[in-house]
Amino acid sequence: MSILLTGGTGFISSHLARSLVKEGHNIVLFDKFINRKRIKDILTSVKLVKGDVALWDEVVEVISKHDVEDIFHTATELAVKAEKNHASAFKTNIEGTFNVFEASKMLGVKKVIFTSSLSVYGPKSGFPIKEDSYRDPTSFYGVTKVFGEVLGMFYHYKHSIDFRCVRFPVVIGPGRRGQGVTVIFSTLIEKAALNEPVTIDIPQNTMLPILYIKDAVNFLISLWKAEKVRKRIYIVGGIPISLEKLVETVKRFVPDVQTNVEIDEEAEQVAKVWTLLTTIVVKAGQDKLYRSIKELNWELKYTSVENIVKDFIECVQKHKDMFTSY
Ligand SMILES: NC(=O)c1ccc[n+]([C@@H]2O[C@H](COP(=O)([O-])OP(=O)(O)OC[C@H]3O[C@@H](n4cnc5c(N)ncnc54)[C@H](O)[C@@H]3O)[C@@H](O)[C@H]2O)c1
Repeated sequence: MSILLTGGTGFISSHLARSLVKEGHNIVLFDKFINRKRIKDILTSVKLVKGDVALWDEVVEVISKHDVEDIFHTATELAVKAEKNHASAFKTNIEGTFNVFEASKMLGVKKVIFTSSLSVYGPKSGFPIKEDSYRDPTSFYGVTKVFGEVLGMFYHYKHSIDFRCVRFPVVIGPGRRGQGVTVIFSTLIEKAALNEPVTIDIPQNTMLPILYIKDAVNFLISLWKAEKVRKRIYIVGGIPISLEKLVETVKRFVPDVQTNVEIDEEAEQVAKVWTLLTTIVVKAGQDKLYRSIKELNWELKYTSVENIVKDFIECVQKHKDMFTSY
């Protein structure tokens, strides 16, 4: 029996895989664009399969060949790419997600954990947002996340798949890559830890609700292990932080971090949306609103930005070979 992680060498899955390997599970990482560097330390402890979730035969083959019991489905085209190319995101996020559920039904997979996002919310979602708030995505990426959630619930009701889902805020941590406004909150800390200069392309007053990768991974594991889940879709909340405050905090640990500011107009617009979204997310760990706190055996450990930045810098400096050279 094994556990399959689609998008397995991505940012979140690579950290998740590390924790699952430590617990002694058989892990299969399935990815279209394998990133060996991110999983350098666990390469010999996992099975690595190159494949595309949008291709039915490849999904069926990986599940049946490795006797997969549960799946963490994280393979996705993220926001910036999905906004630029809807057709490509449709293949991965919509067809790929359908393939994962349909193959799971056919081959008897028990649990499918789906990583959704706060991007399912929008202006009509109300304040403060809760798990049951109206979904009003304003991006194509958000639309694909709503699809994954609804499809997962359908496969649960109709075909008894134990579907479970988390809507993450912005997850930050070592190894986060890609484009977009949310990535700079990770690369700022990573580059500072490596004494590399950082180019900031969004205004300093941009706010994001952040969650540290170690808390995100623990959440996924709690969600997976919970004996019972009542409503199946959970929010975690995030710690609201402005880029300015994050730079200040990083400077406490790396006083001579070099930052150049080159504002990109397109990024600035997206940053405004995120700042607005941050105001409707309840602070992680301090809320009693979300089911995650009441129903799952999970607790936020990195409750302050200082703790996050300190641990993040230590991790990067300890494993420089995994994080240098972009
Ligand atoms: N990082 C965040 O802040 C955040 C926030 C909310 C939700 N999420 C969700 O968490 C999940 C993981 O995000 P991440 O930040 O690790 O992203 P990531 O881009 O680092 O990882 C995604 C992985 O999926 C792989 N992939 C893409 N298309 C594929 C395909 N067609 N077939 C197989 N693999 C494919 C990529 O190669 C990559 O390794 C995603 O579902 C994302 O929507 C992330």
